[in-house]
Amino acid sequence: MKKVVLRAIGMLCWAMAGQAFAQQPIVIKFSHVVTPDTPKGKAADYFKKLAEERTKGKVKVEVYPNSQLYKDKEEVEALQLGSVQMLAPSLAKFGPLGVRDFEVFDLPYLLHNYDDLHKVTQGPVGAALLKKLDSKGIVGLAYWDNGFKQMTANRPLKLPQDCKGLKLRIQSSKVAEAQMRTLRAIPQVMAFSEVYQALQTGVVDGSENTYSNIYTQKMHEVQKVITATDHGYVGYAVIVNKKFWEGLPADIRATLEGAMQDATKYANQIAKQENDIAMEAIKKSGKSQIVALSAQERAAWKKALIPVHEQMAGKIGKDLIQSIYKATGFDPNNL
Ligand code: LMR
Repeated sequence: MKKVVLRAIGMLCWAMAGQAFAQQPIVIKFSHVVTPDTPKGKAADYFKKLAEERTKGKVKVEVYPNSQLYKDKEEVEALQLGSVQMLAPSLAKFGPLGVRDFEVFDLPYLLHNYDDLHKVTQGPVGAALLKKLDSKGIVGLAYWDNGFKQMTANRPLKLPQDCKGLKLRIQSSKVAEAQMRTLRAIPQVMAFSEVYQALQTGVVDGSENTYSNIYTQKMHEVQKVITATDHGYVGYAVIVNKKFWEGLPADIRATLEGAMQDATKYANQIAKQENDIAMEAIKKSGKSQIVALSAQERAAWKKALIPVHEQMAGKIGKDLIQSIYKATGFDPNNL
């Protein structure tokens, strides 16, 4: 009798443990390097909300902002190892993954506004680029916008020659490096989390970034001038570990794909506005002066930097560059 009771209790415990196990949510760790109040930070939090609501708690998305878990290079390694499942690195940071093609987005003055950008990211060129990640064990899910880059320094950089000799922080992109060398500046590759301190202590003299990144990292508090060059673009590809993604139950994956689509719409709706708000906040802070370029000064910047397209064609692909010219109607000979 005692044996029967013990066996029944044992079976009950086993069933309860099994049920508890079945109820464990699937966890997606989503690491990123910016603050929660940026276009990417807000979109990541929105994806979390939609994913958790729509899967009725079967999926839990843990968002780790501000390089809290990993810095730029480490987060890509962590994704490949499966220590995190989802990232949205800047398109300038795909070199360590062996997909430098994304650096095409770093070509100076290639994209002039969000319309141009969307013709690429929401068209066949963007889709083909994401497909290239497959062979690296990664699935590219979407493009999330940020905005256009401005130069920061302790003096105005109204003409390309004003950059001569300055140590300027860049992301780990060969195109960004070529751009800075063309300006006769000294490029310094540095993780995003280290930029504020490097600017504050004078390890670098300046940097390039969007208004939202400048403002939320408080870079404007340690740089006297932001020159409104709009010379390049910063944006993201949302990527996920392929083994993890393809191993998800089909219904869950479909729900997450829907959540990602809606989070992407949201991301790309707020990006411009977030950057405009950040620009106004910088102006209002009085800590850094925003200097506009005249038409002639802008033309001089373009004239100096557009040859970088030709220079980098061997590294990132002439055909790829041409396909973007075709999608946006860009003509390097008619500026
Ligand atoms: C940078 O490193 O400057 C940016 O790409 C950071 C980011 O993710 O926006």
